Amino acid sequence: MLTAYTARQAQLLDAHCDILLVGDSLGQVIYGLDSTLPVTAEMMIAHGAAVVRGSYHSLVVVDMPFGTYEGSKEQAFETASKIMAETGCAAVKLEGGQAMAETIHFLTNRGIPVMGHVGLTPQAVNVLGGYAARGRSQQEHDKIISDGQAVQDAGAFSVVLEGVIEPIAVSMTKALEIPVIGIGASADCDGQVLVTEDMLGMFERVPRFVKRYEDIASVIDKTVATYAEEVRKRTFPTKDQTYQPKK
Ligand code: KIV
Repeated sequence: MLTAYTARQAQLLDAHCDILLVGDSLGQVIYGLDSTLPVTAEMMIAHGAAVVRGSYHSLVVVDMPFGTYEGSKEQAFETASKIMAETGCAAVKLEGGQAMAETIHFLTNRGIPVMGHVGLTPQAVNVLGGYAARGRSQQEHDKIISDGQAVQDAGAFSVVLEGVIEPIAVSMTKALEIPVIGIGASADCDGQVLVTEDMLGMFERVPRFVKRYEDIASVIDKTVATYAEEVRKRTFPTKDQTYQPKK
């Protein structure tokens, strides 16, 4: 599983991924915001529809943004059904464990497949006090495990487990029947997810759990420098890129 925010990105990832996540991380990655909190349902719908248009094989999951589902299960249904109807995605993802169980139950009983998200939940950054790994105290360890169980019992078809100490990921993956998708969790999870721009090397600073498989930022920098130089020297465009009158 990888994130995707645009149609072309989805086309490139589709053959390799089982799931494409239109994550609310688009707030930081695409819009340059400080957190996911200002992301709106309209933003998610615009990018979700683009990703659905660019994918053929992968299951497309769209994040429910902060403030659009926590108020009540009815509010969650309204947002989730709008996202599904207007994007054509197959499922939605929402953050929270036991606190969201009733909502997940309500949605899944009304035709909305839900992926849960527990552990480090970025929409709760102001309550958690930052993005540090979770579960170092026994109390928090037990709570995260119970959150995963609650999400499964409520009917979620899968759960993202983010930013936890590895033993939690190992125990949760063993305990749950639904696939546990790790990010900053463990190689023992059933699957993995990363923000595509992070793993491609678009950013210099990434969380410790990210492996930068490429250095795309340097490729772009070099390529654009060559373009700028050729434009200034007037060696671009050449005859190959210009139209001449027909003979
Ligand atoms: O918003 C997002 O991209 C996510 C993943 C990192 C799991 O929720």
